[in-house]
Amino acid sequence: MLMKSCTPSSVLLVCLGNICRSPTAEEVFRQQAAIAGLSIKIDSAGTSDVHVGDAPDKRSQRHAKSHGYKINKLIARQINANDFQKFDLILAMDAQNLADLQAIKDGITDTENTLAKLALFSEEDPTYGGNDVPDPYKGDGDDFEEVIERIESSAQAWIESWKYC
Ligand code: 4NP
Repeated sequence: MLMKSCTPSSVLLVCLGNICRSPTAEEVFRQQAAIAGLSIKIDSAGTSDVHVGDAPDKRSQRHAKSHGYKINKLIARQINANDFQKFDLILAMDAQNLADLQAIKDGITDTENTLAKLALFSEEDPTYGGNDVPDPYKGDGDDFEEVIERIESSAQAWIESWKYC
């Protein structure tokens, strides 16, 4: 695929803990970008510091692996102000994550308008657009499966959106 000027060179995926949704999204996005021939730096982070240094949740690891996504080596970290300088696009898994990211961004002086664009991860998705990727932490196996289904769909929608801009 041709790289269009609107294709970001870096994307950061963000959820609360960085142990369930965003590490899964990181690997799904990485694989889909590679298939599309896009060279994009991809990373993930959490708004909270509770799981910093942890591997992804074992349930997320298991469900991701069953769909061909190996996430066991990823390590949780917390988002920081530098990320808003380093990344072109920061995608929030749910509306609360987006509000928390907006609050951090609002606290950073940005006279040259160089900070990352913020959006909901589902924003471009024709099926799930505007919806949260629901937090599966207190859920069951079906919830972890739904996370993967929504992430695959919404990541593909972003990549499609960069074909026609
Ligand atoms: P994540 O899921 O935001 O998708 O990583 C969660 C992980 C941990 C917690 C909540 C959500 N927690 O409360 O510890």
